[in-house]
Amino acid sequence: MHFKDKVVWITGASSGIGKELALQFDALGAILILTSSNQSLLSELQLQLQKSKILVYNLLDLKGIPALVDEALSCYGRIDFVIQSAGISQRAQATETDIAVYEKLMAINYFAPVAINQALLPHFVAKNSGHSVIISSVAGLMGFPLRSGYAASKHAIKGYVETVQCELLETKVRHSIVYPGRIDTPISKNALQGNGQQYGTTDANNEVGMNVKICARKIIKGIQKGKKAIVIVKAERILLWLWWFCPALYYKIAHKKGLQN
Ligand SMILES: NC(=O)c1ccc[n+]([C@@H]2O[C@H](COP(=O)([O-])OP(=O)(O)OC[C@H]3O[C@@H](n4cnc5c(N)ncnc54)[C@H](OP(=O)(O)O)[C@@H]3O)[C@@H](O)[C@H]2O)c1
Repeated sequence: MHFKDKVVWITGASSGIGKELALQFDALGAILILTSSNQSLLSELQLQLQKSKILVYNLLDLKGIPALVDEALSCYGRIDFVIQSAGISQRAQATETDIAVYEKLMAINYFAPVAINQALLPHFVAKNSGHSVIISSVAGLMGFPLRSGYAASKHAIKGYVETVQCELLETKVRHSIVYPGRIDTPISKNALQGNGQQYGTTDANNEVGMNVKICARKIIKGIQKGKKAIVIVKAERILLWLWWFCPALYYKIAHKKGLQN
């Protein structure tokens, strides 16, 4: 599969994984549509790209998403790939987390990607093509301390994507869900504390995470192979193994390590 002249819409393009994906898709000759809520960061990125348009949008505004999708479709007359990387994490124990924080995490990590996908699906189904890629997390496969709302939202998007994958199996509309472990991006800085304020700190976990360039390369390779699930892990592989085969030990280690962030 090649990406030359394919229209790729990326949410979360202002930072981290989404930004790096934009740079790598650009190098492969793709035409890009960039979305985040930060105009100036997107404009800076656009200077480095060959052909792109910017759609500034705050994904907390769920009602406006169908109109946003129409706007994205009208940028170049079609969308071949949508990569939903926009997301926000959490750094607070459940006992200290306001319900408003759970609502915000679900809005950005679950309802917004579902709303975008739902509005795009009729177009993909009508032309019997189109590839939707949604970034979940290893925390969408197993729970982990300080991320009760984040893990819940990432588990929820897994359920949505896997179900749509079953339903559309006999069409040429593709869905891929990505489960990264720790990736070196500003995600923890932007994470929410229990009272809704930004955590503001890069935690040690992220600093030892995988380089974002390697992560983006693996995502693109997974998309090219048409993988339904793209798991991008290093040491987290051991935790996943323990969670499946030796859950009692997993809970002990997650309790000990996860509360140290
Ligand atoms: N880094 C990791 O260790 C890791 C691990 C597993 C999964 N993930 C997932 O990977 C995805 C990308 O994360 P990242 O590491 O690249 O984090 P990041 O550097 O903090 O980037 C997050 C992106 O989401 C966008 N975003 C957040 N809230 C938004 C809103 N209300 N409206 C529009 N855009 C919004 C941000 O754009 P603006 O702030 O400009 O709006 C930014 O572009 C997320 O879904 C995350 O959950 C990351």
